[in-house]
Amino acid sequence: MSKIGQKLKNAAVKIYSRLGGGSLRQSENVAPEGSASVPPEVSALLRRAAAEGAVLLENDGTLPLKGKVALFGRVQTDTFYTGYGSGGNVLKPYRVSILDGVAQNGKIQPLGWLADIYRKFSKEHPVNHGYWGNWPFCFPEMPLREELAARAAEEAETAVVVIGRAAGEERDNELKAGSYYLTAEEERLLQTVTSRFKKTAVVLNIGSLIDLSWTEKFRGRIGALLIIWQGGMEAGNALADILSGEVSPCGKLTDTVAREYSDYPSARSFGNAGYNEYQEDIYVGYRYFSTFAREKVRYPFGYGLSYTKFRLDFGAPDWSGDIRVRVCVTNAGECAGKEAVQVYVKKPCGGIGNPARELVGFFKTKLLQPREGQETEIVIPVKSLASFDEARACFFLFAGEYTFYAGADSANAQKIGAIVREREEITERCTANIKPKKSFSVLAAREEGEKRVSAERTAAADSRDNKAQMLASLPPALAMTGDKGYTLSDVKSGRASMEQFIAQLSVRELEALSRGADVMDSPLGAKGNAGVYGGVSDALRKKGIPPLTAVDGPSGIRLCRPCALLPVGTLLASTFDEELVGQVYAAVGREMKAAGAHVLLAPGMNIHRNPLCGRNFEYYSEDPLLTGRIAAAAVRGVQSAGVSACPKHFCCNNQEFDRTKNDSRVSERALREIYLRAFEICVKEGAPRNLMTSYNKINGIWAHYHFPLVRGVLRGEWGYKGCVITDWWMRRAKCPEFPKLKYNAYRIRAGINVLMPGGSYLKMAGLGGNDKSVARALGKKGGLTLGELQRNAAEILNFMLLEENNGNG
Ligand code: BGC
Repeated sequence: MSKIGQKLKNAAVKIYSRLGGGSLRQSENVAPEGSASVPPEVSALLRRAAAEGAVLLENDGTLPLKGKVALFGRVQTDTFYTGYGSGGNVLKPYRVSILDGVAQNGKIQPLGWLADIYRKFSKEHPVNHGYWGNWPFCFPEMPLREELAARAAEEAETAVVVIGRAAGEERDNELKAGSYYLTAEEERLLQTVTSRFKKTAVVLNIGSLIDLSWTEKFRGRIGALLIIWQGGMEAGNALADILSGEVSPCGKLTDTVAREYSDYPSARSFGNAGYNEYQEDIYVGYRYFSTFAREKVRYPFGYGLSYTKFRLDFGAPDWSGDIRVRVCVTNAGECAGKEAVQVYVKKPCGGIGNPARELVGFFKTKLLQPREGQETEIVIPVKSLASFDEARACFFLFAGEYTFYAGADSANAQKIGAIVREREEITERCTANIKPKKSFSVLAAREEGEKRVSAERTAAADSRDNKAQMLASLPPALAMTGDKGYTLSDVKSGRASMEQFIAQLSVRELEALSRGADVMDSPLGAKGNAGVYGGVSDALRKKGIPPLTAVDGPSGIRLCRPCALLPVGTLLASTFDEELVGQVYAAVGREMKAAGAHVLLAPGMNIHRNPLCGRNFEYYSEDPLLTGRIAAAAVRGVQSAGVSACPKHFCCNNQEFDRTKNDSRVSERALREIYLRAFEICVKEGAPRNLMTSYNKINGIWAHYHFPLVRGVLRGEWGYKGCVITDWWMRRAKCPEFPKLKYNAYRIRAGINVLMPGGSYLKMAGLGGNDKSVARALGKKGGLTLGELQRNAAEILNFMLLEENNGNG
């Protein structure tokens, strides 16, 4: 969308939300007191998660604190608990601000009079949470008078300055003061405080990385730097646990902090209208920095300090089947703590070049007491060592040396051994045609040993392949039998087969199954739902197909009832703790069951390609292994409660500006090694029952029509058997290979089962009537086949059989 188009859209949204378009505002309120309760063990779990995802970047002994502390910065009361949009809008039962958390902690005491001044300022300058797509990036800071800082410095030894930022859905961060950069007022605040206090800790309450170059100006004056992300409803308690030393920080950066924004390899091809060519190719985040620009790293991927010290001992990697690395972590310091160790590989270049470091395994210890140790074996699947060669459309284990590095972060991991493979080996042949339509220049590292920036062209697609593959994918039709009286429970109990059940469905029923119940907050589901699908008509419900309620999302359940607000995705991934993430989402799964919700529209798992992406807070990391593993843990957690997860947005939703039109142009190699890889791990290790496509195009095709990605890669190559739904509404388009397939007919051929939340453009305009694209294309030469429509139903119903919460269980 052009900038003018965006402005017009913003104006329309503003008018709508002023007129009472409530769903376009974020529910910043807490539920009325006493109306809700979260089990104490869930509150404790979320508090622990929020503390264990905080990342300590600097500490000269300033932290932990004791006694009185002078707390500065208005986010102490106006804390950012989450980001904005569908991934943050949860009606929370309560929330603990930074100030309240510190005040309640008991071990440290905020200066009461200073806290009162901030409370008063916040009351007199209430925050404005904006409206959809116009969320605030920050709240204007209170100007701090010198005499207040001077008085505070007489009473407390240490100052803690808190700085906050947010962004959200349809609102990327911007390269300006108050978003990516500090405001002048924030810098003044730091100047005033650091010139009065000997010890200052700075706490960043942010959803995505911001510029940290200002820390250079304050070198020697800021003793500790801590990122607490957006910690959900327990944010303040979690910070207090860290400040007081109750919890030793153990979070690790899931992204590289570069010296300057312009150092990020995606900086030149992010935020454009129309399209972005992913010129950095596979060199995303630390893959780029470790190969081409080590000196541009401020804090490396995987980095984070602790209050204690760890001794790490690694065995040599053993390559028999998978690769195994023995690890022993010993707490060699004075307080209890946890450590996340990481194993990286440098693969042979194989004529196509490879990054100097790639994460291939990680492990988070239990809480280790001083002198306590823990041993484990990190297993690295061979697949992680393969590289994708576009020319031969295969994953290869190249001949040559595989050097393994292990340690506590990507830059300081030490060599633990090398294994030489004599012969090249194909690990996987790929068939889907997902290359860009036109080739473009990408970064490459061709020469072994020596780092060299060079550009090469991506391979471009052959458009004829799609047509042939689409035709080859058409299944035979089941002879329609008319109603035989079978219900979905009969399929579950074995009285009827899925084929028998589907053969009795009419075209009208098959079509109705392929779209949701038209609206958000459907009367068929719990109040405040995102949409309902499955039993959307009487006829379908009579056959025992339940209406299943979908709810957002990554930060907790978004309904008109109070639900736990989780720490944001980036924080959860920063724990590097799959078990903990699993426990958090299992609690959400249980809450869903109680609320009558069936499908959680989470985890959000797009790669952090650039720090400005507005939804980075929902997502996990710049690395596909970490992203995939954390997402798989979240999926297993939700589904352990008998409800379903729905990872999103498949794929390359890496910017919010222009998101429904933008074309992410990505080489096949970068897709397969980075952007798809995360989903592949999640699908194979987490077995989600649903998956959501993204709004954007990928190499010229909208994700919701992407036959090569959905039928080709997801279902064909990875064997995914679940249901695929669109993101909320989709763009109209005609299939270039089969022009008779338009809109929903095109989507069904591509393998995307359900249009969410459903409804035609006519309906949305209040004119009634369903979209006719399926009926019009059905049975015509070059149109949609009955077999496709029936297969579409089977793919939806298969997942419904697994739901325990749907009345079928
Ligand atoms: C978002 C999805 C979300 C859906 C339903 C869309 O705008 O992109 O992530 O799940 O709305 O709220």
